[in-house]
Amino acid sequence: MTSTAVAHPNIALVKYWGKADADLALPATGSVSMGLDVFPTTTSVTLTGQQGHDAFTLNGRVVDDGALVRVERFLDLVRELAGSDARAEVVSDNTVPTGAGLASSASGFAALAVAAADAYGLDLSARDLSRLARRGSGSATRSIPGGVSVWHAGDDQASFAETVPAPPMAMVVVTIDDGPKEIGSREAMRRTIATSPFYPAWVTSTTVTVDDMLAACAAGDFTRIGELTESNALRMHATIEGAFPPIRYLNSRSVAVFDAVAAMRADGLEAYATADAGPNVVVLCRPEDRARVASALDGYGAVIESGTGPAAHLLRSEGS
Ligand code: DP6
Repeated sequence: MTSTAVAHPNIALVKYWGKADADLALPATGSVSMGLDVFPTTTSVTLTGQQGHDAFTLNGRVVDDGALVRVERFLDLVRELAGSDARAEVVSDNTVPTGAGLASSASGFAALAVAAADAYGLDLSARDLSRLARRGSGSATRSIPGGVSVWHAGDDQASFAETVPAPPMAMVVVTIDDGPKEIGSREAMRRTIATSPFYPAWVTSTTVTVDDMLAACAAGDFTRIGELTESNALRMHATIEGAFPPIRYLNSRSVAVFDAVAAMRADGLEAYATADAGPNVVVLCRPEDRARVASALDGYGAVIESGTGPAAHLLRSEGS
């Protein structure tokens, strides 16, 4: 039995930064994101025997390090739900630049959740797939639904993501550095919580921003969505920079993109910048402006335009 699924990355408009419960992967606050229609991850899961280990091949290379352990732990959850002890072979093609702050783990674990649930014979609702993906990587929760989605804070049952009404939007991804980052988001979150004096204010303010963002999305107020997006990203980076030892993801080239985006706005082109746990910057704009925004940012890095992406879904399910 081989099940193959595809999922896309998402970029948070209101960021997730910090867990309330690491075991259950429950976030300290809600978050809101837009799914992309570029950089898909396609993953197949084939059940093998009862013995030994799971096998994981990523982009044509056999993985035998911590990434395999993370996949095996995730599959253990699926096996527990399915009452199975079958091992699996996972083959994944992930077109997101790995570890560069574009949440390759989001599309990765969302595709794995959909493919593994099918391979192990689980018939999960979109909500339960989202809860399952959450256990692989927090941001993967939001790569199960399509479009713009909210990931609710709450307990294990209540913490899932779902699509919300929003106006048409686009993003321009400016890849400044596609090498691996110095410190992964998981460890950086822990250090931020333990040492940044700004972290409590981040949690309080982001909780308010989630509600403001959902209201702006429902009202179709693009300007407000953009302003909240850029503000929340800078608040997250300020909180992270407040850790000890400090962690700084944005470099001078990232800051130059934020400046270029502010200059666009001064010229009447509405665009807003955000960045995750890495130097790359993603620019939110109206769909009709994406080509103009992309050409204005040409030269700051590799520029890729994206519309709003689909939900994660099963591509094929082939019987044994
Ligand atoms: C900055 O989802 O990668 O992209 O839950 O530990 O796997 P884990 O973290 P991860 O963190 C993403 C953080 C972020 C913000 C966001 O996507 O909301």
